[in-house]
Amino acid sequence: MIPPRASFPEGFVFGAATAAYQIEGSSFGGCGPSHWDTFAATPGNVVRAEGGAVACDHYHRWREDLDLVRAAGFDAYRFSTSWSRVMPDGVTINPEGLDFYDRLVDGMLARGLQPFLTLYHWDLPAALSDLGGWRNRDTCLRFGDFTETVIRRLGDRLATVATINEPWCVAWLSHFLGAHAPGLRDIRAAARAMHHILLAHGIAVERMRGLGQTDLGIVLNFDHAAPASDSAEDKAAAATQDAIFNRWFLEAICHRRYPAEALAGLEPHMPAGWRDDMALIGQKIDWLGINYYTRHLYRHAPGTAWPSCADVAGPLPKTQMGWEIYPEGLEQFLTRIARDHTGDLPLYVTENGMANDDHAGQPDPVREDFIAAHFNAAQRAIAAGVNLRGFFYWSLLDNYEWAEGYQKRFGLVHVDYETLERLPKASYHALSRALARN
Ligand code: FCB
Repeated sequence: MIPPRASFPEGFVFGAATAAYQIEGSSFGGCGPSHWDTFAATPGNVVRAEGGAVACDHYHRWREDLDLVRAAGFDAYRFSTSWSRVMPDGVTINPEGLDFYDRLVDGMLARGLQPFLTLYHWDLPAALSDLGGWRNRDTCLRFGDFTETVIRRLGDRLATVATINEPWCVAWLSHFLGAHAPGLRDIRAAARAMHHILLAHGIAVERMRGLGQTDLGIVLNFDHAAPASDSAEDKAAAATQDAIFNRWFLEAICHRRYPAEALAGLEPHMPAGWRDDMALIGQKIDWLGINYYTRHLYRHAPGTAWPSCADVAGPLPKTQMGWEIYPEGLEQFLTRIARDHTGDLPLYVTENGMANDDHAGQPDPVREDFIAAHFNAAQRAIAAGVNLRGFFYWSLLDNYEWAEGYQKRFGLVHVDYETLERLPKASYHALSRALARN
């Protein structure tokens, strides 16, 4: 059973999360091409070569989608602004794009939903990608301009603002592992992106403070890194992964430093003068967002270049993504992050959820259990004193799951990609019963 609203602290915020490229439809409303459109158009990058041209057609169906958020009993909606919709070439404003988000935010307020904005959830304008994207320091300055444009228009009605969604995915997954746009496998590109994405965050926070914007944060993703065995080599492999994935961004934001285990491999490739940026990167924020899905087991991979690690399949039940279901990891991260890094800073779980091979009208009990287990984990962290303020389910709708295309279904609401019809799943109804105010 999903624990009810009344078992959480007074004022705890429950929300649903989405992201622009995954739902809106990038072919509508004067949106420019992003590096996700070009990445998807290149054979071999995305399952069935699917892209976000139509996605869930949220650009036209947003009213219905906000009605679904409200009818579920959520308090808040986490959404993102597409840079390539607001500035199709990365710099020139598309008034139609800003108008869309203006209507969307008003639509949230009209339904009593708190708008939680994420400025960047991965749709980098292709024109900026052509100039080197996150390898290029200039992109950070352009992001500052984009931030200011969005905040001048929407800022008076937002509950919170996150600068960047999941810098690890923006940098490491996309420039070292090559799995997301721009699909590079290059340690020098990765080191630059690892730093520049944080610099972009710092510049954006500074620009927003200058405008008087409040409740500023960033959303980081965490993936429990466990050694595949008790050997010293496997433990070291897991510690290195933990440093790259879980500590690089967190320590930069909270302590103005990068962890030594990660710098060991990245320092030779870092952009000149990076240390001078650490004060800007580590300036005060007002809250931290935590995305958590799973854990990974790592072993030492002899004869490979740094970080000399390999993934090992774990024994736990897995979601449609092949991700192990490990709710304990959420509790561990929340308590560890508060204890070692953030102290009393407000935390939000900004994403947690699971993909399942759902079919319209069939029950999805595994998702209900998943939500219940992760709500319970959050409650244990709260009981241990963690200042957790809210929990957002990923995602409201089945949507474009990046390199996995449309096959992986994370939604509380089923989407028929032929008709674009929305159909709430059993987990949607179970969650809305838990969120009902008695
Ligand atoms: C996160 C992303 C989100 C979604 C989920 C499943 O890494 O932020 O867009 O794809 O994973």
